[in-house]
Amino acid sequence: MRRRHFLYTTKAWAKAMSENPNVIAAIQADPSSPYYADGTPEGISEAVLNLLDPATDQFDNKWHNFSPEMNDDQYYNFLVWHRGLSIPRARNLNREEVQRGKKVFNEIGCATCHRAKWETKEDNYWAPAITKGKPLPRYQNQTIYPYTDMLQHRLYMKNGIHGSWCRTTPLWGRGLSRANTGAEDRIHDCRARNVVEAIMWHGYSRKSDAYETTEKFFNLSKEDRDAVVEFINSI
Ligand code: HEC
Repeated sequence: MRRRHFLYTTKAWAKAMSENPNVIAAIQADPSSPYYADGTPEGISEAVLNLLDPATDQFDNKWHNFSPEMNDDQYYNFLVWHRGLSIPRARNLNREEVQRGKKVFNEIGCATCHRAKWETKEDNYWAPAITKGKPLPRYQNQTIYPYTDMLQHRLYMKNGIHGSWCRTTPLWGRGLSRANTGAEDRIHDCRARNVVEAIMWHGYSRKSDAYETTEKFFNLSKEDRDAVVEFINSI
């Protein structure tokens, strides 16, 4: 499954979709679509704009009332399950090439943004009203290795998003994407087909916060570049 981020559910996105002729045409060709409205381009556009707007009540509006997919108890169980999801364990860490990749990853500056280790504190979660105060499991004071600083940086890649701001992607578990999905697509819009392409996109612009680090990666020996990729694929 391809990853999609919160930024796709904004009002701006709803507006873009409602003005996209391909979207309108595809809906017009499918009268069973919840966005079909009266079947005119104007009606469809209005339905798309409003139904994708996060402020619209999905179950009570004048365009299309969706049916809830879960009741409150099921949703609570879903939250319990989701909180307890574990990340996959790292693999092959003792292999020589992986250790070398780790060293290079640190040396050339990848770890300044993709920070390896964090200690979590109390797990003071926010829970939606639907849980009616029922407690959710807490996982506090853990040592985790997410490989992110959890901050946004500007990489200034072509067709960047949000004025180019993007959060450092946690690298843990990403190395399993081929095994799990058959593809290694990387970067928020899956424009990179593999890890090396993802790294090179960091240096698309000289203005990028990661430009110098990317240049260092580019100038490594092939063995060292391969080792960095092996390291990333093992965490
Ligand atoms: C200035 C901070 C910064 C530095 C330095 C940096 N990265 Fe990143 N990295 C990011 C950000 C931000 C993203 C998310 C970009 C996006 O999706 O648009 C990212 C994404 C990635 C991804 C893609 C993750 C995925 O699954 O989509 C990989 C792989 C990666 N970085 C590896 C590296 C490596 C290797 C280096 C060192 C050569 C490096 N990064 C240096 C900030 C940084």
